[in-house]
Amino acid sequence: MNEESKKKINEKYERTLLKGERFWPDSIFKDVIMSFGIFLLLILLATFLGVHDSPKADPSDTSYVPRPEWYFLFLFKFLALYGQIPVLGKIEFIATIIIPGIAMGLLVLLPFLDKTPYRYYTKRIFPISIMSLLVVSMVTLTLMADIPTTAGEGIYIPGITQVIAGLIVPSAAFIILTLMNFVFKTTSTKVMIWTTVVSAVLMITFTGATLALAPVTEKTEAAVASTLEERIVAGQDLYSVHCVECHGEDGKVTTIEGVEGLEGKAVMAINGKDVLYTLNDATMAEVIAYGRPDAGMNPFGKAYNPEGLAKGEIDYIVTFMRYMWDDRFERPVIKPLFPALAAGEVPSYDVHIAPIVKRYCVSCHRPGKDSNAYLMDTYENITTSGDNAPSIKAGDANSPLLQVIQGTPIPDPDNPGQNLVGVMPPKSTLKADVIDAWMRWVMAGMPRTAEEAAALSTTPTP
Ligand code: HEC
Ligand code: HEC
Repeated sequence: MNEESKKKINEKYERTLLKGERFWPDSIFKDVIMSFGIFLLLILLATFLGVHDSPKADPSDTSYVPRPEWYFLFLFKFLALYGQIPVLGKIEFIATIIIPGIAMGLLVLLPFLDKTPYRYYTKRIFPISIMSLLVVSMVTLTLMADIPTTAGEGIYIPGITQVIAGLIVPSAAFIILTLMNFVFKTTSTKVMIWTTVVSAVLMITFTGATLALAPVTEKTEAAVASTLEERIVAGQDLYSVHCVECHGEDGKVTTIEGVEGLEGKAVMAINGKDVLYTLNDATMAEVIAYGRPDAGMNPFGKAYNPEGLAKGEIDYIVTFMRYMWDDRFERPVIKPLFPALAAGEVPSYDVHIAPIVKRYCVSCHRPGKDSNAYLMDTYENITTSGDNAPSIKAGDANSPLLQVIQGTPIPDPDNPGQNLVGVMPPKSTLKADVIDAWMRWVMAGMPRTAEEAAALSTTPTP
């Protein structure tokens, strides 16, 4: 800085001083007003917008993939892209500590490094360029954060364009600008501006290409019951599979029957005030998750039992118990699983069997379960799949399926004393009307639609 400009700046300073603006109280007053405004804005946002709903955290869910908040996504993506670099990419702390450390350090040291007295932008091209590129980088990295960085085997074009947009162009630009500023000091501001603009355009173009080329990944959304009725029905389905064997369909069992090891054991009816009034929702969920191991109720929560239920599933069961049994809750009208059958009426797959199967069987008999080969997700599969197919033969009251749902296991001819198929469903007993529906359906020839069933019925159906 030469003497002349020093003098100019001092004069300017004197003039401002003369205007009489002081740090205390003038500047402080402005700051207070500003902070108060921001505070007010926060209160308004919290009151009227609030925090958006997301599912409750489930500490027992080991399949949960944590994602940073949106304002950290750029760092997250940067780390992922950095990992693509051969050799260096393996040294993670460079990307997680050293590079962000240098960036933060530079910010802290900025007032000491950048001592230029000028504020006019043409005199400050270097810092402005660096900052603009940083901002563009953060935005483009954030935009690309949701796109997978690699895709296994083969050439993955969105992966290449990402590395160009998020790593190569910005690093090259930072290096070139730094060289221009400190080494080739005569570089004109025009060249620097052009370098910045071209880099930014390249980054944006390649980001656009990445977004356009990325395969559309379908969000696998877990079926989440949203309405109260859906939650109650989901809870009822889970209760049917997991709890009925000991507590009975309506929770009023006081003596366990037919459960190995617990035969004749006295239990508290869980549908009465004693249980429902004493346990609030959280404790109830905890009782189900932890079980009553000493009394013979095994833990159902994933935290205590790897094959157990997720937190959300236990919450559905609690909701079901509350609304169906707790007299402080108004019991909503829940449609029965299937319309009751009149004498001589033949049930159909569509109206009767499909909902039964969905509630009592599909949890174990569906694609993706390795415990057995019998798929019950479609009509075709129910009638044809399985290790000992067919499990149901039209008109045969001794069909294996009919036997096992009535509590008669199928013995294994090769291993005397062993069962080929145990009773179904293994953990609960079906109600008489459900078994009756199965029986009538198989005996009548397993009609699929309501019309086919009506044609087979011996009484006119309404
Ligand atoms: C293998 C049998 C068995 C199964 C299956 C079972 N329980 Fe239990 N449950 C018990 C026994 C035994 C007790 C202890 C009863 C007692 O102490 O009177 C109990 C107690 C309870 C209690 C009362 C706890 C208390 O101390 O107040 C609740 C609530 C409960 N069970 C809910 C469930 C739910 C919901 C399911 C299904 C997810 C389930 N149970 C599955 C056997 C079972
Ligand atoms: C808790 C899991 C579970 C539920 C629920 C369940 N099953 Fe099974 N099922 C199995 C397993 C496991 C097998 C393999 C044989 C065995 O272990 O007994 C099987 C086998 C069968 C088989 C023999 C199929 C073959 O060809 O090998 C039939 C039939 C069957 N189940 C019917 C049913 C019906 C009907 C329901 C619903 C009312 C049902 N199951 C519910 C677990 C389940």
